[in-house]
Amino acid sequence: MGLLKNIAMQCRKPSGRLGRFMGRAMNSGHAKLRRWGFTHISINSDSCVLDIGCGGGMAIKEIALTLSNGKVYGIDYSEDMIQLSKKVNDKLIQQGIVEIMHGNVSDLPFEDNMFDFAIAIESYYFWPDLVNDLIKIKRVLKPGACLLLVHAAYKDEKFEKRNNKIANLLDIKFHTPDEYKDFLTEAGYKIEKTDCKPEKNWICIVAQKSENN
Ligand SMILES: C[S@@+](CC[C@H](N)C(=O)[O-])C[C@H]1O[C@@H](n2cnc3c(N)ncnc32)[C@H](O)[C@@H]1O
Repeated sequence: MGLLKNIAMQCRKPSGRLGRFMGRAMNSGHAKLRRWGFTHISINSDSCVLDIGCGGGMAIKEIALTLSNGKVYGIDYSEDMIQLSKKVNDKLIQQGIVEIMHGNVSDLPFEDNMFDFAIAIESYYFWPDLVNDLIKIKRVLKPGACLLLVHAAYKDEKFEKRNNKIANLLDIKFHTPDEYKDFLTEAGYKIEKTDCKPEKNWICIVAQKSENN
């Protein structure tokens, strides 16, 4: 595997020393994107939130610090990211405000109807079967609860060359905002909000699980 591909693949499932370095780099490198994403939802101080593909755990920490009576759970299928997330959220874990678990989006280790929000930042383009995985997430959301999807590379002519390079390196596919909305609709969600920052190629979609399923 070439060096560039090796580094890129660390975003898919960070591991070892390079993976931990990437996890920390994403904690700071994704700060502006995730905070922009968070402006699209209103998490209450008693909300129960799930971060899927939590990586280095900074989104968990930022949300947890806004809660007084809620809880944030994080899952990731990389053991090294679980260790890093636990380190980053050490105090909040001891206080019982954060819990971080090893797990895969396709087989979420949670009860039905548990979360007020689920978030996925720069992680859902890695999921093995996006529509089916979105359906799996719906199971753990409370009726009326929302899923927030955020990433920085939706399919767009202006960024085509850069995005194709990344997609080839990572062996993934980026989609247009309409295609993401179609996947969510197919998975049974109602689209609440879609926002893009075209100059940065950022996308944010908030989708709601209906009140009666
Ligand atoms: C590009 S990183 C983003 C991490 C973090 N959300 C952030 O914004 O910094 C993608 C993360 O998703 C995790 N991931 C990818 N596919 C996953 C899956 N099927 N189940 C759980 N985690 C997954 C990876 O291990 C990695 O930590």
